[in-house]
Amino acid sequence: MTAPLTIALSKGRIFQETLPLLAAAGIVPTDDPETSRKLILDTTQPDVKLVIIRATDVPIYVQYGAADLGVAGKDVLMEHGGEGLYEPLDLKIARCRLMVAGRPDQQTRSNRPRIATKFVNTTRRYYADQGRQVEVIKLYGSMELAPLVGLADYIVDVVDTGKTLQANGLAPLEHIADISSRLIVNKAAMKMKHARVKAVMARMAVAIGP
Ligand code: ATP
Ligand code: PRP
Repeated sequence: MTAPLTIALSKGRIFQETLPLLAAAGIVPTDDPETSRKLILDTTQPDVKLVIIRATDVPIYVQYGAADLGVAGKDVLMEHGGEGLYEPLDLKIARCRLMVAGRPDQQTRSNRPRIATKFVNTTRRYYADQGRQVEVIKLYGSMELAPLVGLADYIVDVVDTGKTLQANGLAPLEHIADISSRLIVNKAAMKMKHARVKAVMARMAVAIGP
């Protein structure tokens, strides 16, 4: 019996948008993570399993080889740093932009503004590269609230339609990076399970298109 090929995915947007690409590789989950409480899902291929985890945990599972493959947003990968994994394929799904946002009329209170974000490493790097002094506050969600209640001057978060910013009286101010989700591969699995990993990648690449 061959060792299983394990693919790490997060529920919601990434799972839904990855499904057609997995199907193109002949991999169809036999359970729906939105209704099932299972964290390891079987697929139509007996030697391929899906593990369902938080989006930010996907690179960690793949880095340590607990999953061979994974799908993660570039925002999450930039924050993780990419150690122990390859990023061979842009899946062109879950597209958005990583941006600095704030109140359109924001007067910075000091020469060291406070930035609320869950992307603390990326944010520190972005401002440091420009020689700008900031204080970074780590949050785990609902970043848009921070400038409204005086917790921070600005936020760094992903923006798609801009509706969440607009609904909270905020505006996009600076573009940090264009974001899409990537297929990531554990470095050891790329060697040890090369043929199977390559086959999945090739079939997904055809489904993604140019
Ligand atoms: P968690 O649930 O662990 O806090 P999350 O809320 O960031 O993570 P998702 O909302 O499923 O998880 O987002 C997964 C990825 O999809 C993000 O890392 C980002 O790359 C992308 N993404 C996030 N929000 C949007 C959006 N509004 N439109 C398009 N892509 C998005
Ligand atoms: C994401 C992100 C923003 C929003 C941006 O949240 O954190 O709040 O999308 O999208 P928009 O520009 O189209 O409004 P999501 O909807 O994924 O909810 P979450 O906070 O649970 O991640």
